[in-house]
Amino acid sequence: MEKLVITGKTPLKGEVVISGAKNAAVAIIPATLLINGTCTIENLPNISDVRLYCDILTEIGAKITWNSEHEITIDTRNIDCNNIPIETTRKFRASYYLLGSLLGRCKSAKVGIPGGCNLGARPIDQHIKSFEALGANVDVSGGNIVAKAKKLKGTSIYMDVVSVGATINAMLAAVLAEGQTIIDNAAKEPHIVDVANFLNTMGADIRGAGTDIIKINGVKELKGGATYSVVPDQIEAGTFMLAAIASKGDITIRNCITKHLESIIAKVVEIGGNVYENGDYCRVWYTRRTHKATIKTLPYPGFPTDLQPQMGVVLAISEGTSVINESIWDSRFQYTAELNKMGAKITAQGKSAVFEGVHELSAAPVYASDLRAGAALIMAGIAAKGKTEVYNLHHIDRGYENIEEKFRKLGAKIERVIEE
Ligand code: EPU
Repeated sequence: MEKLVITGKTPLKGEVVISGAKNAAVAIIPATLLINGTCTIENLPNISDVRLYCDILTEIGAKITWNSEHEITIDTRNIDCNNIPIETTRKFRASYYLLGSLLGRCKSAKVGIPGGCNLGARPIDQHIKSFEALGANVDVSGGNIVAKAKKLKGTSIYMDVVSVGATINAMLAAVLAEGQTIIDNAAKEPHIVDVANFLNTMGADIRGAGTDIIKINGVKELKGGATYSVVPDQIEAGTFMLAAIASKGDITIRNCITKHLESIIAKVVEIGGNVYENGDYCRVWYTRRTHKATIKTLPYPGFPTDLQPQMGVVLAISEGTSVINESIWDSRFQYTAELNKMGAKITAQGKSAVFEGVHELSAAPVYASDLRAGAALIMAGIAAKGKTEVYNLHHIDRGYENIEEKFRKLGAKIERVIEE
């Protein structure tokens, strides 16, 4: 079993370069299945979810060439839509994008009910509703989802909840549908815009991504032949911003889009941290003990749920009593029990948690329950007194590229160790 061993109380200092966005990459890779041709994707994060998705596409018949550690060329001319490796699709959440893209390309798709981080109930009713509105039949049984259509026809879809996955899936299924599709109450995250930009570069006609109404004029085919660069990861950038504060450090974050980080920058400044922002980079530094805050996670442009655990670490050691309300996932406070093992005073109940700030954390063996919880525990280990051990690294490797290397370059004392 692998673990990270972190000797704490090191202020992080220096520069970090942010990778491409995981949640854009895991949508763009399946989106290439809509193209009858080749395309090149740059700035891909080299993480296990991306590698897994490439394996799935290879099984489906796509030819993938790794041009470098962060760039692939995909040739999707000879895919076989019946060749989806169902068991592999169960391993992660983003496999549901195969439904939208293969429905669009082949009018039929079958995937295993997707797994992914255990954050509580993760329904996909809005995905199914969107496919059905476009003219597909969707059957969920035996642990699989099967979607089939004679043809897909543009329509109006009103999302009952703001959903990243359902918005992207509806977009994927509508790109090659006949006529116009309007998605109302769409999610507005930067990765929604990125997927739309990617598809438009390949010949789609999508307007309004990044607002709550997206209009897709169906086109006959996507030809590809172009190169696309994945947007920088807003959540990775936010993780390092919060790590700068938690460790009492001073970090310059390169290759980020500060416009995507507004809700995080506002909170860091509100609690007494310092931020200088300049378009594609920002500097975040600590000068005095930060203080309490009230946070509510919301869809973009609100405070992201995917930075809630990392913010929780900062509030656990900030002055005063803070409250976090998690409005997206039912079960995203599992990390608080681990932080309490390190001396934090957090009471979590349902979708709220109260943080009574302590002066410092102390080392303990802790277990990542999911990807972002894992990032938060690494941050906590860097800030804490003593030697912290973080377990369940597979969660972290799914979404952060070379995380210990990036922290080590900033001065953290962190090693990956294989335990017998
Ligand atoms: N929801 C429904 N019905 C649906 C879809 C969603 O009720 O059909 C609800 C969910 O239960 C949740 C809310 O809507 O309460 C938002 O869910 P959303 O669909 O936006 O989440 P997702 O697409 O499954 C993506 C990210 C998550 C991130 C959320 C919210 C990917 C692969 N995953 O999940 O990322 O937390 O959006 O921003 O893009 C992570 O990166 O650590 C992660 C969990």
